[in-house]
Amino acid sequence: MNPLVQNQKRYHLRIDNLLNQYFVEQTSAAPRLTQAMQYVLLNGGKRTRPFLVYATGEMLSVPLEKLDVPAFAVECIHAYSLIHDDLPAMDDDELRRGKPTCHIAFDEATAILAGDALQTLAFDMLASPDSVIQDPSKQLKLVKLLAEASGIHGMCAGQALDLAATDTPISQSELQQLHNLKTGALFKVSVSMATILADELDPKVTQMLDQYSQALGLAFQVQDDILDIVGDSDVIGKPQGSDQAQNKSTYPSLLGLEGAKTYLQQLHQQALHALDALPYNTRLLREFSDFVVNRRF
Ligand code: IPE
Ligand code: IPE
Ligand code: MG
Ligand code: MG
Ligand code: MG
Repeated sequence: MNPLVQNQKRYHLRIDNLLNQYFVEQTSAAPRLTQAMQYVLLNGGKRTRPFLVYATGEMLSVPLEKLDVPAFAVECIHAYSLIHDDLPAMDDDELRRGKPTCHIAFDEATAILAGDALQTLAFDMLASPDSVIQDPSKQLKLVKLLAEASGIHGMCAGQALDLAATDTPISQSELQQLHNLKTGALFKVSVSMATILADELDPKVTQMLDQYSQALGLAFQVQDDILDIVGDSDVIGKPQGSDQAQNKSTYPSLLGLEGAKTYLQQLHQQALHALDALPYNTRLLREFSDFVVNRRF
């Protein structure tokens, strides 16, 4: 098994165990709401953002135990963003990871609340007083970074721009900003949370890792846009053609399919280039960029 696949499996297993464990220990006054959260958190998903937390952190010699909390928190924010993204008021999609979306499996109100509860769970985890991070100033930094990446300066802003750009063509720089916010922000914060936990990091390293994660996050969404056209619903696990049906602003709608594929390769090169000068073993992050641009689901 090649090292990328091996590590993807290792991190996947680790985050799945943590998420499962949370629900084992959880007693809730609202079991149906808990079920909806479990449904979304535990039913598949590539665990891309936790991978970035773990892979970056291990590269920088951060103990895995300290990376668990940011990995858990960013996956909660991601899961919440997907539940709300699929709602009738947003993309109105009925299939996610090959299964009915949360509001179809449960109901709209429960889906909204599951998203809300997953969002607050992320910050609850980061702020825990008995955290293995054992450094309140670092915990506070993590809370602040994740809040910025999720809200009005990050994912939520991107989702608002996405809705505004539906049925309305936008320029390439506007589309880049939209994608950087709606998807790139959570990629970037996954890497930067790992850097916060590293000891005495040269600011140059943080800067290059920021460039890497920015290019990677954008590439991830460009490939997502491409898969909406060339993918197969059975493989991508979501309704193929959803963007076109809704007249969304995407890279293929702006640049054509071939133009989007060319841009994707440029972003891949940018991501790799950002890693060139780093005094660490960057092999895993490089191979991950390759995975992101070649993925089929
Ligand atoms: C889907 O994200 C939403 C986008 C940002 C494109 P993922 O493709 O990471 O979703 P899962 O978690 O693997 O299902
Ligand atoms: C969603 O982008 C990004 C989020 C913040 C959830 P998309 O709307 O393209 O994601 P999919 O294709 O539904 O997964
Ligand atoms: Mg959307
Ligand atoms: Mg969507
Ligand atoms: Mg999409």
